[in-house]
Amino acid sequence: MLDQVTKVHDESRQGEAFAPEAAGTQTYIKKFYIESYGCAMNFNDSEIVASILNQEGFGATRNVDEADLILLNTCSIREKAEQTVRKRLTEFRSRKKATPGLLVGVLGCMAERIKGKLLEEEKLVDLVVGPDAYRSLPALIAEAGTGQKSVNVLLSREETYGDISPVRLDNNGVTSFVSIMRGCNNMCSFCVVPFTRGRERSRDAYSIVREAEELFENGYREVTLLGQNVDSYYWTNDAGTETVTFAQLLERVALINPLLRVRFSTSHPKDITDEVLFTIAKHENVCNYIHLPVQSGSNRILQLMNRTYTREWYMKKVTRIREILPDCGLSTDVITGFCTETEEDHQETLNMMRFAHYDLAYMYFYSERPGTLAERRYQDDVPEDVKKRRLAEVVELHRSNAEAGMKKDVGKTFRVLVEGTSKRSAEQLFGRNDQNKVIVFPKEQFKKGDYVMVKIESCTSGTLIGKAIA
Ligand code: SAM
Ligand code: SF4
Ligand code: F3S
Repeated sequence: MLDQVTKVHDESRQGEAFAPEAAGTQTYIKKFYIESYGCAMNFNDSEIVASILNQEGFGATRNVDEADLILLNTCSIREKAEQTVRKRLTEFRSRKKATPGLLVGVLGCMAERIKGKLLEEEKLVDLVVGPDAYRSLPALIAEAGTGQKSVNVLLSREETYGDISPVRLDNNGVTSFVSIMRGCNNMCSFCVVPFTRGRERSRDAYSIVREAEELFENGYREVTLLGQNVDSYYWTNDAGTETVTFAQLLERVALINPLLRVRFSTSHPKDITDEVLFTIAKHENVCNYIHLPVQSGSNRILQLMNRTYTREWYMKKVTRIREILPDCGLSTDVITGFCTETEEDHQETLNMMRFAHYDLAYMYFYSERPGTLAERRYQDDVPEDVKKRRLAEVVELHRSNAEAGMKKDVGKTFRVLVEGTSKRSAEQLFGRNDQNKVIVFPKEQFKKGDYVMVKIESCTSGTLIGKAIA
């Protein structure tokens, strides 16, 4: 892929360090360096952390050498994600020994899962802070500065950080995430998220709209509303006199300005409603793109996964999406080799992929996570080589489906929101169409943040290549 920007639901992002391009006018006494792992929500949390730390006189830096505080905002979704963080912590060990006063902290889902044990296991960690405890960071940093080990991993039923304006770290100035809820009430048996992020809670609708308005006023042209299960967003005001559903929220954000594109992620197949589909159809600026993780195509496995829908239910949803939104982009997540998965179950997953013809897919082999329902109830009995072989088959089928989908777009014209200069050539720009496909085209007089009509002339498996038309 040329410029694939798969940030929205690709929780395989590993250890990217960000800081704002320009530090602004404020000068900070101390510097923090933050690396983020995992899903978009975790990256967005790093921006909330940055905002809290700025208030405390810490400015962000991309240069670890000048940091007084190193933070790793971690992910626990698969074993490999945690291994990467452990490796990174050992890399920081000699730096910490050589730099008196340097503090190292672990934030996020791994902090929540392993808690204080991290301090014992990783002797040079000073701070362990879970996803709902970031407001206590200033106090914990002060405590750690006196040589004490500091931990706060309390989960909350209310915390949404709704009043905190995130400091945009990964900043292209055009697209941004806005978290609309936290936690998850589903109990998919393979998943660690309900344990690391706690109960689901929805953020105040007014604070979400305000944040999106501010982004638009600051030149942003796309917001992605984030939640583990956005369709169950449901906010009630304190007096109990006003409620807002996800479809209503989507509409409120869409009405900010027709030039502000709105995306969202993730939709759970059991919860996405016709009302949401009709809202997408009604507003041109709500993008025709839905991330609808299937996980498996086998009813038996779906039941063991506790996904609470059947293969038939899922297929009906896809059919309904195509009825209401004929040109809607569709993406998914798939897990291969879940407990007891047979070759027949695997074939059902491949058949589902043939049916749904996804434009984008995030595919993984099953990784057992301690404490989850699956770990407690079922045996992780599919050998790793089988899991990986099945994954390779799923990936290959998806690749050929997606390539066929790309070829169908050659000759069509799309409205592209320009996100930046192509990595391959300074003479090319890249952006995405409504359906979330990446499009590359010659720069001419266009710039970041412009909407440009581009006629597609060719494609690779991940990128459409075209030319602007007048
Ligand atoms: N909330 C979303 C949903 O319901 O689909 C996504 C949650 S999770 C952050 C993203 C993806 O990671 C899941 O959809 C699933 O495919 C994958 N995943 C979660 N737990 C996993 C595990 N134990 N092993 C492999 N993949 C896993
Ligand atoms: Fe995990 Fe399921 Fe919640 Fe998604 S919906 S975060 S897969 S428990
Ligand atoms: Fe996200 Fe990983 Fe936590 S995917 S919610 S950072 S476990």
